[in-house]
Amino acid sequence: MAHLDLNEAVPACSETGVWLTCIECGAQFAPFTEVRYTCDDCDGLLEVRYADLPTWDDFEGRGVWRYDAALPFDEGVSLPEGDTPLHAVPELEAEIGVDRLRVKHEGMNPTGSFKDRGMTVGVRVAQQVGVDRLACASTGNTSAALAAYGARGRMETLVLLPAGKVAAGKVAQASLHGARILEVDGNFDTCLDIVQDLARRGKVYLLNSLNPFRLEGQKTIGLEILERFRTEEGTVPDRIVLPVGNAGNTAALYKCFRELVASGGLTPEDVPKLTGVQAEGAAPMAEAIEEGWDHTERWEDVETRATAIRIGNPVNAPKALPGIRETGGTAVAVSDEQITDAQRALAGEGVGVEPASAASVAGLRALRKQGVVDGDEQVVCLTTGHLLKDPEAAAVAGSDPEPVPGTTDGVLDYLRESS
Ligand code: F0G
Repeated sequence: MAHLDLNEAVPACSETGVWLTCIECGAQFAPFTEVRYTCDDCDGLLEVRYADLPTWDDFEGRGVWRYDAALPFDEGVSLPEGDTPLHAVPELEAEIGVDRLRVKHEGMNPTGSFKDRGMTVGVRVAQQVGVDRLACASTGNTSAALAAYGARGRMETLVLLPAGKVAAGKVAQASLHGARILEVDGNFDTCLDIVQDLARRGKVYLLNSLNPFRLEGQKTIGLEILERFRTEEGTVPDRIVLPVGNAGNTAALYKCFRELVASGGLTPEDVPKLTGVQAEGAAPMAEAIEEGWDHTERWEDVETRATAIRIGNPVNAPKALPGIRETGGTAVAVSDEQITDAQRALAGEGVGVEPASAASVAGLRALRKQGVVDGDEQVVCLTTGHLLKDPEAAAVAGSDPEPVPGTTDGVLDYLRESS
């Protein structure tokens, strides 16, 4: 596959040392002169390529822009994002039975999800190409991030959401940050079809993860994890487990590893196994891995409590499936009950996440039980969004409030009787 080779000669179309390459046919394009999301020739996914890949010594500063040497610009519209915590979770580590378990809590980004990492870069590119109306389809978090970064960049934002299927916190964010919210009668995949059409017709600039520049920002999740492990543990994790919707993060992490290997910053044997987790009701990637397919089949009917990953047509599958396979990883589907159990277990460690995020831990649990994950592995689970994104799901997973009288004695009586 053309996309595995990063060592292309710098094409004539690149004046800045940055260009776009089609992962299917290898066609190359200038990055910022025209708006383009997929290949002109074959409609394949595009990937950002660089004349110079950085080494670890090139990184300084904080957050996503610490890694500017690995990005197309050296600054962007920033709130700022990145530098998220890597939590130790000792009880979960012991219960699941792995050598080391860390949880990278991407819910601690400014709008409460990893999407901020992609938006800080994506909105910078939008400024460069000179557009003023940004748009996305979203299960919620992308719309919250786009609305905030669009507001900060003084641009108009339009978000298409599946009606009735987006968690309350996310709609509230998009609304307050000033996006126009179009509630579509259809699921996420329908929203994405429509917004892609709008983008093709030149009506909007698309900031879904089909836009290759978003994935450049999301690469920094991998850089942060590996840099932290290198300096604090002197190792690299054996495996990174993450929830999968459109498979943008899976694709971004794989690109991060390939660039590090190409620059000598990571040995091929040390590349962490990319392990994707989906909800049983929306699992085309897990299906493709299980069946050995090189593509995903679109699921028309999708359903899960983890609404963030309620997606039947993962657009980044052509980038992500090779990533899972080449790194020796896998993909698995978990039930909504397993997701809620994992959400509770994380909350018991003080880590508050939304359901989709907990899928990573639920998947690790399942794979460890099946013996796919070994007991001597060092594992990082990504939790992608904050608990407060979906207050309803948190209330379902958590304990019920208990009504008590409005006096101290009444409260004491209640506590005595109920204990
Ligand atoms: N976790 C959360 C909390 C998400 O919001 C998403 C995607 C994913 C995981 C899946 O990531 O697409 O890179 O595989 N949310 C998108 C949105 C679709 O519109 O907010 P992926």
